[in-house]
Amino acid sequence: MKPRITITREVFDDTIDFLQQHCEVDANQADQPYTPQALAERLAGQDGLMCALTDKVDAALLGAAPRLKAVANIAVGYNNIDVTACTARGIQVTNTPGVLDDSTADLAFALMLATARRVTEVEAYIRKGEWTGWKLKQWLGVDVHHATLGIIGMGRIGQAIAKRARGFDMKVIYHNRSRVAAEIEQRLDAAYRSMDELLAQSDFVVLQMPYSPDTHHLIDAKALAKMKPGAILINSTRGGVIDDAALIEALKNGVIRAAGLDVFEGEPKLNPGFLELKNVVLAPHIGSSTEATRRAMAMLAAKNLVAALIGGAPPNLVNRELLPGK
Ligand code: GLV
Repeated sequence: MKPRITITREVFDDTIDFLQQHCEVDANQADQPYTPQALAERLAGQDGLMCALTDKVDAALLGAAPRLKAVANIAVGYNNIDVTACTARGIQVTNTPGVLDDSTADLAFALMLATARRVTEVEAYIRKGEWTGWKLKQWLGVDVHHATLGIIGMGRIGQAIAKRARGFDMKVIYHNRSRVAAEIEQRLDAAYRSMDELLAQSDFVVLQMPYSPDTHHLIDAKALAKMKPGAILINSTRGGVIDDAALIEALKNGVIRAAGLDVFEGEPKLNPGFLELKNVVLAPHIGSSTEATRRAMAMLAAKNLVAALIGGAPPNLVNRELLPGK
């Protein structure tokens, strides 16, 4: 008998075709997000779950899914999943690293360029019909090229951002839980700094570390006060790593110059204070959202799920302690 799986959100047809070759598929192509209770009911007899960062996979959900053996997240971040609870139940958890690095790094750059050169502000100005002519001192921005870029979180995506920065002749500094290999530092021409040094020296600070209790509100009022007054903050990782209320105050009071944000605390609701500010560029969590990348993520999640359920080690197992022989 084929394993039974539930996919919580709409995916591409080829993802479903692939999954149907191996599994009985319960899909949600209508893309109405399930409430926790509705998802719990659907999982009662299921062996596998393919989910998104909008789904909370916690001990309560696992309690309602006695047959569940694998959870495949369509995301590289997996803070929506209680991995410890899954491991305790022997449930394999997988994510989608690698395939989204370049697209996410591109979006971080889009936010840097848009904030520095005030792209959304000037677009709104033109659309309102307010442009009456060229002026030397009009809409002055700041340069991205030759500026100092501070990357917090030097994993794959952080490194892809550093690689792009070289093309802009930026000076790259970084902070990470642990220093990356000397070979990587050399290749990217990136220098390690303490958090405080990075905050004090960067013209652009890009956040790319995973969200966890350790990184919750890593950027709070105190950290913002350590940044250069002209600095720009970019968040392309997860809401919650910034104290959004503190950021709004800092943007209002000129503590920093601007922010480019793809993610928010409590998204999709966001602090309404952001909407009143001109010096912020807002995006709705689209870091990896190009057609090619989202297709690759969905297919990778599907392959992980099939490998976990049919046998063989999933390529992107998060709780590797579940591997046979570990
Ligand atoms: C997106 O936010 C991801 O973690 O893949």
